[in-house]
Amino acid sequence: MPRSIIAGIGMYVPQNVFTNYDMMKYMDTSDEWIQERTGIKERRFAHRTNETTATMGIEAAKIAIERAGITEQDIDFIIFATLSPDYYFPGCGVLVQRALKMKEIGALDVRNQCSGFLYALSVGDQFIKSGMYKNILVIGSEKHSFAIDFNTRSRNISVIFGDGAGAVVLQPTKDNNRGILSTHLHSDGNDAEILALYNPGTHANYWKKGLADYEDAEVGGLYENHTMIDKGQNFPFMDGPTVFKKAIIKFPEVIMEALNQNGYKSSDIKMLIPHQANLRISKFVQEKLKLNDDQVYNNIDKYGNTTAASIPIALCEAWQYGKIKESDLVCLAAFGSGFTWASALMKW
Ligand code: UT7
Repeated sequence: MPRSIIAGIGMYVPQNVFTNYDMMKYMDTSDEWIQERTGIKERRFAHRTNETTATMGIEAAKIAIERAGITEQDIDFIIFATLSPDYYFPGCGVLVQRALKMKEIGALDVRNQCSGFLYALSVGDQFIKSGMYKNILVIGSEKHSFAIDFNTRSRNISVIFGDGAGAVVLQPTKDNNRGILSTHLHSDGNDAEILALYNPGTHANYWKKGLADYEDAEVGGLYENHTMIDKGQNFPFMDGPTVFKKAIIKFPEVIMEALNQNGYKSSDIKMLIPHQANLRISKFVQEKLKLNDDQVYNNIDKYGNTTAASIPIALCEAWQYGKIKESDLVCLAAFGSGFTWASALMKW
């Protein structure tokens, strides 16, 4: 059975830098608090009308495709991970297919938030291993800036998010010393409402009371309405400390699961790319696994938390800086909304 390799990787971040000081113009926060609690100094925000989740993904994809030494016409499957799609439906995958004038190939959208890229990578990996496809484009992209509540009531969540995109091209290889060794996917829906965007949605407070205030209507009209908007119920919610506590357990667990399955120890890792949720989480994981600074790549200080894009952006940067070389043992890991968490272990 062939293994999948990342044959090309690319990233795209918007030009517009939005610092913690810029954030302070809109809410009661401080550069000191944000840096100390999250490690973030600045993030990028997409152009309000000229850049979308799909267009940023497309820019990253063009680079990945070129670096893989192929053309858009060679791609035979698209997997697009995001929680901030251009449209509620259809997903961003078809917009990539259209914009890059690709053949009438399959386009799959993945909605697994912070672990979205790893879920997408895992799906792509299975298609490569089964021999079904030869060139799979996997994209993670987010335009959070459009859905951020620039208001003190949401400051715990608004200060952490940033925009950007990363993409990889997966191809089969028969080289035993390279490729994705395994992927590990998990979920626990008990805490689904701990980190979520409830509205617009069809839940009608079924799972939990009080997530939306509905206006009287005999039919329809409940999906999104003025009352919800007036009450800020159309913005993301996060119980940060609960997410934090679970993340620092599940990150090390899912990394060790990948290492154990393949007979490695944490000291064998050349580079760990954790989802960039919070520098304190990354540092905790690093300490727990007894990794040195050279074994973990973090760039949350520059980009904030770009959710599905954070791993491919960090992986791309680490590779561009020459920190990852052919056949190096690379581990990717993520935890987030759902809760879902995942890891991937590969020989680059
Ligand atoms: O990527 C998806 C997965 N997400 C994560 O992994 C996020 C995990 N959670 C976290 O990273 C952290 O919980 C946050 C960075 C979100 C929040 O940090 P925290 O240390 O857990 O703060 P907290 O929510 O417990 O709030 C502590 C205090 C509160 O004030 P009081 O009640 O103690 O007076 C907050 O109101 O900090 C206050 N606070 C802020 N102050 C200034 C919360 N956000 C801010 C802010 N600026 N932006």
